[in-house]
Amino acid sequence: MDIGVKNRRAVICGGSSGIGRAAASRLSAEGALVTIVSRDSERLADAARAICDTSGIPVDYFAADLTTAAGRAALVAARPATDILVTNSGVPQRFAAFQSLRKADWDWWFEAHFHSAIDLIQAYLPGMMQQRFGRIVNVSVSFIKFPQVNAAHSHAARLALAGAIASLVREAAPHNVTINSVLPGLVDTEALRRTLRERAESKNVSFQTVVAEVTARCAAGRLADPQEAGDLIAMLAAAQMGYVTGQNIVNDGGAFQGLF
Ligand SMILES: NC(=O)c1ccc[n+]([C@@H]2O[C@H](COP(=O)([O-])OP(=O)(O)OC[C@H]3O[C@@H](n4cnc5c(N)ncnc54)[C@H](OP(=O)(O)O)[C@@H]3O)[C@@H](O)[C@H]2O)c1
Repeated sequence: MDIGVKNRRAVICGGSSGIGRAAASRLSAEGALVTIVSRDSERLADAARAICDTSGIPVDYFAADLTTAAGRAALVAARPATDILVTNSGVPQRFAAFQSLRKADWDWWFEAHFHSAIDLIQAYLPGMMQQRFGRIVNVSVSFIKFPQVNAAHSHAARLALAGAIASLVREAAPHNVTINSVLPGLVDTEALRRTLRERAESKNVSFQTVVAEVTARCAAGRLADPQEAGDLIAMLAAAQMGYVTGQNIVNDGGAFQGLF
């Protein structure tokens, strides 16, 4: 099926690795003109080359720290318009005891998981509305549907983003601009492996034991391949998806057991 993104511009945040890179690969394979964004220029150049080797379409890149207002402003100044935007600061959730959190911590997590997306949406949305095409996909986390202990800081910022978008989607929809969020569970990326390795070390058990522990809570009984999340993001960016907006789509192999 042709998802109708040929020659569409796509800015993919956190695009040099993991979920963002998988989304970039799929969109490039579908003919989109992709710009990947993350901090490390060398990793970006390697990823852009590898994606282009497979898709045959040149991949652009831009280095910016998306947890800073200056980084986000630099991105928008350098790439002022896009048809598809994938917001993804790439910052993994880290656990912290509620009582240990100070204002500076809350502020930092709001930069990482709220402003990192909302500033880019504010910047790119008017152009998308004017051209009567836009697909925005945010990368969040399944846990916002069933919040975890010691994750108040990250959940609060991501739920603030979900709330802001819920209020915004009806303004954008008449202009053929959709905004949806993908909520991954356990995706086999560098970031997840790092977290699981740390957990194994702190519990003095093997990496495999920790993987078995976490996948036991998921009906699929396995970690997701990053491409499974990347393909879902690309599908939400499809031309045919103009009637799907404001959705928070869990992609976690059945770990979340709620109906809504
Ligand atoms: N993997 C999972 O199981 C999972 C599940 C749910 C949600 N998520 C969320 O999905 C997002 C992506 O995770 P992932 O697993 O794909 O991670 P990953 O494989 O580590 O990739 C992260 C990407 O983001 C970039 N990045 C990190 N910090 C950045 C910053 N400050 N500014 C700009 N780019 C930055 C990284 O490149 P540089 O380091 O070079 O900047 C890299 O390209 C995270 O927010 C994570 O919390 C992941």
